[in-house]
Amino acid sequence: MSEWVAVSTSADRLRAAALLVRVEDGAFASRLLGDVSAPGVRARVLGALRLLRPLDGAIEAASRRKPTSLDPEVRAALRVGLYEIKGLGIPAAVAGDGAVRLIRRMGRPKASGLVNAVMRRAPGHWDRLVREGDDAFRNSHPDWLWRLWARAFGQDAAESAMSAAQHPAPLWVWFTDVDAADRLTGEGIELHQHPWMPGAWRAVGSDLVGSLRSGDAYAQDPASQLVAWLTAALNPGGGEVIDLCAAPGGKTARIVRDGAWAAAVAADLSLGRLHRAGRVFETCRGRVFRVVQDAARPAVVRARWAAVVLDAPCTGTGTLRRHPELRYRLRPEDVGDRAALQAKLLGGALDLVAPGGLLLYSTCSVEPEENEDHFDRPPTGFEVVDLAPSLPEGTPATGTSAGGIRLLPQESCDGFTVHVLRRVGV
Ligand SMILES: C[S@@+](CC[C@H](N)C(=O)[O-])C[C@H]1O[C@@H](n2cnc3c(N)ncnc32)[C@H](O)[C@@H]1O
Repeated sequence: MSEWVAVSTSADRLRAAALLVRVEDGAFASRLLGDVSAPGVRARVLGALRLLRPLDGAIEAASRRKPTSLDPEVRAALRVGLYEIKGLGIPAAVAGDGAVRLIRRMGRPKASGLVNAVMRRAPGHWDRLVREGDDAFRNSHPDWLWRLWARAFGQDAAESAMSAAQHPAPLWVWFTDVDAADRLTGEGIELHQHPWMPGAWRAVGSDLVGSLRSGDAYAQDPASQLVAWLTAALNPGGGEVIDLCAAPGGKTARIVRDGAWAAAVAADLSLGRLHRAGRVFETCRGRVFRVVQDAARPAVVRARWAAVVLDAPCTGTGTLRRHPELRYRLRPEDVGDRAALQAKLLGGALDLVAPGGLLLYSTCSVEPEENEDHFDRPPTGFEVVDLAPSLPEGTPATGTSAGGIRLLPQESCDGFTVHVLRRVGV
């Protein structure tokens, strides 16, 4: 191993362990890692979070103590060290030695004996626990979520959704300027189209940092892109569109890029989040107006909008590969709490739809309670729009019991659920 790699490895370890401590304090890993380009830090933080259940199980068995009873720094050093062995394939002696040096550098030299002992015993416990554990344990998901998914989607689909969350999410972008893809190809950057989502691209052998910085490209999961694409595809006649939960603005901007709208409004409860959307809205060349409002009590004109988009706040259970810590923070009761909030927002949203206009309701949750259960019976004056004929060819979606579509988390996209209603009448 070269000296450079050795130095960068111990620096990566230290940074990763420090970030894991902050995630435990409530920070979001994706936000903390926003400015971190070192792959060794990203891999350790996201990888350890994706395997926290078996990591902590092995640490508990090896230390005979609940990991929660250890100092946060000790816990983080052990998680990083064991993840290096089991997730990154670093030899046990190297990772063990690294973990001991790490805990010293974290200012806990007295814990180095404990770290050393646990690092020697934990890999054996890991092997046994993973061999004997069930799907939820191996895939490091909470038991309650596994039960919910197995009941709703069947055991095989639930297992494959969980294992999809164990892999890093590929970076897919859409180009704010439709000619940008041609320009980049002309510059020698090799671009690949997403297998089913029109307009979603990834670069081969390049990371598109320049395009993302300049605003030419916007990073967005293909499932999210699909919601925006459907809004334009279902409403080709234009009219006015309002996105009620718009921040940070990715869907609104893509809706404006893809559709011929008379006007577009991006609304959100959060002024700060809406402010952050300013950058992507600049690419819409003044065609997006911003409004701060509560979607449950909208201040805009009722029954006027050709398309009302409600991309509602939700538990986010479709996005666990991007936000691996979320699965440990969610509580079973959060599903019902979010569903109650969504019902209120839906009440406000339905009022806004013009006769003949559409309501697009989407969440990045796959839970029926947050999705089709809202539409068991279509609200008075609305009919369900069958989405199947409008989907891009090859979209790996299944129908919901209320006529919507669901994408379970998978390699090609995050989990997402979409329902569309039309107000009957002219
Ligand atoms: C899932 S995110 C929206 C993501 C966005 N559509 C996009 O694609 O970039 C949900 C948004 O709902 C907003 N929100 C939460 N409660 C709200 C309410 N009562 N009224 C309006 N917006 C709300 C949050 O501030 C958050 O920005």
